[in-house]
Amino acid sequence: MADTREGKSILTLNHVTKRFSGLVAVNDLSLDMKERTIHALIGPNGAGKSTAINMITGLLPLTEGEIYHENVKISGMSAHQIARTRCSRTFQNLKLYRSMTVKENLMMGRMMDMKQGIFPFMFNFTGAAREEKLMSEKADSILEFIGLQDLAGEYPSNMPYGKQKLTELARSLCRNPSFCF
Ligand SMILES: Nc1ncnc2c1ncn2[C@@H]1O[C@H](COP(=O)(O)OP(=O)(O)OP(=O)(O)O)[C@@H](O)[C@H]1O
Ligand SMILES: [Mg+2]
Repeated sequence: MADTREGKSILTLNHVTKRFSGLVAVNDLSLDMKERTIHALIGPNGAGKSTAINMITGLLPLTEGEIYHENVKISGMSAHQIARTRCSRTFQNLKLYRSMTVKENLMMGRMMDMKQGIFPFMFNFTGAAREEKLMSEKADSILEFIGLQDLAGEYPSNMPYGKQKLTELARSLCRNPSFCF
């Protein structure tokens, strides 16, 4: 349903439909997400939640409709192109690093976005220590925002699914997305 509240539109779906052969997985979905808002996509198993998110993030082509990110049409772009527009996502099958703590997972997410890549950290080049401090502070602030600060040193495999999902969400938020699933 379209949201008519004031504010800049971050994500807009216009009459989005996905059909897999005869099966209609998503039927005429329209919505308008404003900046600084939180939404929930709910429905029973098979309702089409993952399919909707896979279309928004470019993993699945739409059968009908259009999707806009900050008024730029993203339906038709590749997943790679859409990711570069600062659309960030988590996955139903979690993709956390099992051998890293919660905080290390967050810092790794951010490191992947850095212009110099991961190499300065491996060889301790100039600026790496400062970057690491900034990443650590960013991770701490996101952990606090999402209520995971007490689990910063915990390993994901010791945590229930809900906390692991929150960790993935926190890692996505560390990348300064304009929106995030
Ligand atoms: N690649 C595919 N090919 C054919 N049918 C598919 C495909 N992906 C999803 N479907 C079907 O589309 C419908 C919606 O599936 P989807 O995975 O989006 O549901 P969901 O709301 O995410 O469910 P869950 O709560 O179980 O995660 C289901 O009937 C599913 O079987
Ligand atoms: Mg799903």
